[in-house]
Amino acid sequence: MCAPLFIIKGMHFMRYSKATFFLILTLMMSLSVLGISQGQSDENGQPGMLRNPLNPYGGADPWLTYYDGYYYLSATTWRSELLMSKSETLAGLKTAIPQQIYAESDPSRCCNMWAPEFYLLDGPNGPRWYFYYSAGTSGTLDNQHTHVLESEGTDPMGPYHYKARLYDPTNDVWAIDGSVLQLDDQLYFLFSSWVGPNQSMFIAEMSDPWTISGARHLISQPTYDWERVGANVNEGPVALFHEDDLFIIYSASTCSVPDYKLGMLTYNGGDPLMQSSWEKHPEPVFQQSPENDVFGPGHNGFFMSPDGTENWIVYHANDSAAGGCDDGRTTRVQKFTWNEDGTPNFGEPVSTETEIAAPSGDNGIDPVPDFAEQPKVRYQNYTHELAFLSHNDDIGAIDIDPRPIADSQFYIYPGFADENAVSIRSINMPAHFLIHDGNVIKFAPNDGSDEFAQKATWNTIPGLADDEWISLEPYDQPGWVISRQFGVTALVKVTDSLNEQMREYATFREVSD
Ligand code: AHR
Repeated sequence: MCAPLFIIKGMHFMRYSKATFFLILTLMMSLSVLGISQGQSDENGQPGMLRNPLNPYGGADPWLTYYDGYYYLSATTWRSELLMSKSETLAGLKTAIPQQIYAESDPSRCCNMWAPEFYLLDGPNGPRWYFYYSAGTSGTLDNQHTHVLESEGTDPMGPYHYKARLYDPTNDVWAIDGSVLQLDDQLYFLFSSWVGPNQSMFIAEMSDPWTISGARHLISQPTYDWERVGANVNEGPVALFHEDDLFIIYSASTCSVPDYKLGMLTYNGGDPLMQSSWEKHPEPVFQQSPENDVFGPGHNGFFMSPDGTENWIVYHANDSAAGGCDDGRTTRVQKFTWNEDGTPNFGEPVSTETEIAAPSGDNGIDPVPDFAEQPKVRYQNYTHELAFLSHNDDIGAIDIDPRPIADSQFYIYPGFADENAVSIRSINMPAHFLIHDGNVIKFAPNDGSDEFAQKATWNTIPGLADDEWISLEPYDQPGWVISRQFGVTALVKVTDSLNEQMREYATFREVSD
């Protein structure tokens, strides 16, 4: 697969002329292959420099690691699926197409999948990736718990199988943001749970990577004013080692305010299950920078440069003080250093206008210096100026004024089955492409199969209601088009008996976002 075609801005009713298409196609061929991005492009940026964010959308609560020659990134999806992006370069994560590594059908542990973290740990059959996340039940956030997948081998891309729900057997209650601390050959589970009005931080011993073996112990509550903005919250704990020192960096205040920030606990060598062993730093260690237009920075992870010489922090933030705790949060990265006293110095969150040096040893070229310059395509429907091709969950639709607008915005790729056709990727279900499943129109993640390539490739043919517009014909089912029948968006066969309304529903024009 290739990174999105850069739609030529300002061409509102876009039908790709062959020349334009092949120009773009030439550019595309130098870009990524299936789900892996080399971050190479011949038109942007300088080798070894990049700008934040790493994604335009859906980058909250990120976890990023460098392993065996590749960077791997996963983030909160708010759906019943977990995604992983892979790239040889850090900047290449910006165009790597996320792969779905797990989808949940069990209604007791679905939905609202948050805060992924993945670790290579020793399992009963040797080293395996243990992928932790929060999930719950449909329609509520009151049933969130922490769960873990186990990989079949040592590939972070999987495959994975569901392993367990992690809970304190003496106190099985709401819990989120699970994270693993390995200290003196003992595994501990860090997580966030409620104590009255205070979302607090707990630690518990683990007997293996998927089992909490003892009672949870409170190690931090939101006591400072800077931890109590919007709500009293300590969450997103992550262990950070530096020489002989151990810290827990955590997020404080509610995630929906610009004042969401990072705090720090320092381990003093006592029993890690005792709150007295963790000394809270009286001030935040990383917080918003209005002058850099970075708001609500938090819920972080840590990773090393490929050569192991640099410490990096990955976190999410909003571009606006009005940004909330939703899919608008994007993933950011920056290097950090250490203070004289051995504590981490995260500095302040860098502006998305600032080019930063990539991790040492990483000479990737930033393929998308500014996502705002990478316009998205919408397919306006002939029936109404506000009607667009869209999705409701993973089901295709032609909706009037679809909300959020991201449900009707797409990146366009050369067709997987025919580069003279197109494949159409959702921007806010970033692993999902438009396919037909029989006559059902839906969005699905690419499984790399030839069958998927066929179903995810669309010919843009002259519009049935106006040949200056287009219709979308499945590459593997010519003579059919996307339209609406009996009130449902579906494939319909093009026959003389198609009524005018169905012809109009079958007719679109590509407009920029
Ligand atoms: O972003 C979703 C959840 O919101 C995160 O897991 C948690 O840290 C925050 O409360």
